[in-house]
Amino acid sequence: MNEKSLYERLGGFDGITAFADDLLPRLQSDAQRGRFWQSRGDDGIKREKQLLIDYLSASAGGPMYYTGRDMKLSHAGMKISESDWSVFLGHAGDTMAVLNVPKQECDDVVAFVLSLKADIVEP
Ligand code: HEM
Repeated sequence: MNEKSLYERLGGFDGITAFADDLLPRLQSDAQRGRFWQSRGDDGIKREKQLLIDYLSASAGGPMYYTGRDMKLSHAGMKISESDWSVFLGHAGDTMAVLNVPKQECDDVVAFVLSLKADIVEP
């Protein structure tokens, strides 16, 4: 059992940071989805990016300790819909394509993200 963790296979801290660096501006500038980030200050955006990096890293088997809130608590009340969710997945796919993430790792990231759907999307 010497299989590498998903964290290592994604390129560790640098790989996951590159993912967040590319993905967040796509979401924030999206015509409809931008509403979630309207009127937020620069520091708030930076803190959220760091929390995303820590969360993904810790969840993928990296050495970080995630200090943020869980997915249900942090997204409750935003009214994230099915269509918001599809747009999110589309942007995440575009980011992984730009970063040349291999298919196996893309599949693993998508499977992980899908496991969070019930906590993030509101009925
Ligand atoms: C359509 C999908 C999504 C939207 C619109 C969205 C939006 C947001 C927004 C606006 C915040 C800031 C909340 C605040 O400052 O109070 C946030 C926080 C966060 N999101 Fe998402 N999110 C989505 C999906 C995801 C997914 C799939 C993940 C994980 C892979 C994720 C991870 C996080 C984390 C770690 C935080 C920080 C939690 C904290 O502040 O303690 N989000 N999200």
